[in-house]
Amino acid sequence: MRTPLVMGNWKLNGTKESVSTLIKGLEAASDAATNVEVAVCPPAIFIEQVATLTENNSIEFGAQDVSTNVEGAYTGETSPVMVKEFGAKYSLVGHSERRQYHNETDAVVAAKFVAIQAHGLVPVLCIGETLEERETNVTTTVVETQLKAVIDLAGIEALENCVIAYEPVWAIGTGKVATSEQAQEVHAHIRNWLKAQSEVVAEKVQILYGGSVKAASAKELFAQPDIDGGLVGGAALIIEEFVGIIEGAK
Ligand code: G3P
Repeated sequence: MRTPLVMGNWKLNGTKESVSTLIKGLEAASDAATNVEVAVCPPAIFIEQVATLTENNSIEFGAQDVSTNVEGAYTGETSPVMVKEFGAKYSLVGHSERRQYHNETDAVVAAKFVAIQAHGLVPVLCIGETLEERETNVTTTVVETQLKAVIDLAGIEALENCVIAYEPVWAIGTGKVATSEQAQEVHAHIRNWLKAQSEVVAEKVQILYGGSVKAASAKELFAQPDIDGGLVGGAALIIEEFVGIIEGAK
């Protein structure tokens, strides 16, 4: 049985005050999180503050990106070792905004995936198609290719200790959430494709949906058999919305 996971990707948003308000709001709504794992991924500058605020509660946290380098002359990068030192559990990898704005290829994503696991963090591997790829019916080929790049480098067994986030690029930040049927269709395809390589991985791996998830759409999305929770952007910055999404995962 896979534990539902609701993760907030705060992207490049927040102030010291808003970080504190959001974490305290999640603490106050902890009953909403019964049997649901809740995690937040703040901008790197707020990781220490989030680590301190989550020391005595069940809220997990992670990085939005880490380097394959752990220390040295790498200006501006975030070390997986340093993130782990503060008690992080996760790191996102392969988010479409990094693939787009930082030209992160499938090979770079695979190398980061390996580095994340090597330093004791759980990778949240983001995959998904663009609108053009959906409209030209190559969605399954795209997500298979993105997964295969990691499997070719890390091995299928490595996916036993990761989270997959299916985030159709056309749904990210657009307000155009995928329908439950659209999302379930791709999640089921991913799980069946993995099952052909490893029944253990297919059964164990949490597959989150991301892309304009709101409290109003969460319950129906998360009720789908192959959707194990959500990776939430904008709505994670609004405590009432995010708590509503968490309740939708119960
Ligand atoms: O990583 C989650 C993010 O890409 C989804 O963003 O604002 O569409 O929920 P949003």
